[in-house]
Amino acid sequence: MTISTTKHVASPLARQTLLDGDLTRPVAGVRPIRILPWLQVVKIGGRSIMDRGAEAILPVVEEIRKLLPEHRLLILTGAGIRARHLYGVGLDLGLPVGSLAPLAASEAGQNGHILASLLAPEGVSYVEHATIAHQLAIHLSAARAVVGSGFPPYHHHEFPDSRIPLHRADAGAFLIADALGAAGLTIVEDVDGVYNVDPNGDGGDKAQLLRDTSAADLAQHKGTLPFDRTLLEVMANARHLEKVQVINGLKRGNLTAALRGEHVGTLIRTGARAA
Ligand SMILES: Nc1ncnc2c1ncn2[C@@H]1O[C@H](COP(=O)(O)OP(=O)(O)OP(=O)(O)O)[C@@H](O)[C@H]1O
Ligand SMILES: [Mg+2]
Repeated sequence: MTISTTKHVASPLARQTLLDGDLTRPVAGVRPIRILPWLQVVKIGGRSIMDRGAEAILPVVEEIRKLLPEHRLLILTGAGIRARHLYGVGLDLGLPVGSLAPLAASEAGQNGHILASLLAPEGVSYVEHATIAHQLAIHLSAARAVVGSGFPPYHHHEFPDSRIPLHRADAGAFLIADALGAAGLTIVEDVDGVYNVDPNGDGGDKAQLLRDTSAADLAQHKGTLPFDRTLLEVMANARHLEKVQVINGLKRGNLTAALRGEHVGTLIRTGARAA
């Protein structure tokens, strides 16, 4: 029997620190492959769509149903008002952010289950994170769409910078869309896009819609935004997605137009360059 005396697994990174960018760049600096280049990711707002109940949800379901022959979709839901209640109770009890994150993610999942039930006749089902990570391709070979929780599974590993989880459904939707090399990400809200000030807040009657902007510009924006601020950070480091589209899902036809590549709502450019 021959005993191997190999001390190192042969690899271009075997003998060097991973902390030196100059050394890792030749190997790690290349663009990753697009795993599901035909995939369209759609994030449905928890507060803006799901919490409004049948009046808002049913037209969105109807529009998605009509889009299924045209697109293959990963539909991700936000957590909405129940998560706000959960944060209130949890913070009052002193729960750490790592305990609150999975609880809020499960609220997003509940919204996903609701949406998937309504789309079930079309073969759409709710899938867990592990399935999205490992078996999305086979699910989307069997069905035109699946639904999941938009939250990224940082869960108990959520960053402790804030008492409220920083990575919520918008950041989660972007992270998975970019990791899969998806064709696009559309964020569905109850406003026409991103404005210079909250159109529903003080002075909202003078709010101006930003039709075309960038994550870098919005990072300088001091006011509120209709998505997680961490979305801007992950957009700055995007590998594939060149833009995100924020649209008003309460207006029929907007989602259809956005998925067909028409400019509706706000386009936010990322840091990624065209291949
Ligand atoms: N700069 C802004 N431009 C547009 N809307 C804004 C802005 N700042 C705040 N908003 C508000 O954000 C609201 C949407 O809220 P939010 O993003 O929390 O909902 P959601 O995405 O449905 O929730 P969830 O994160 O639970 O999915 C809009 O109705 C609008 O009033
Ligand atoms: Mg939002």
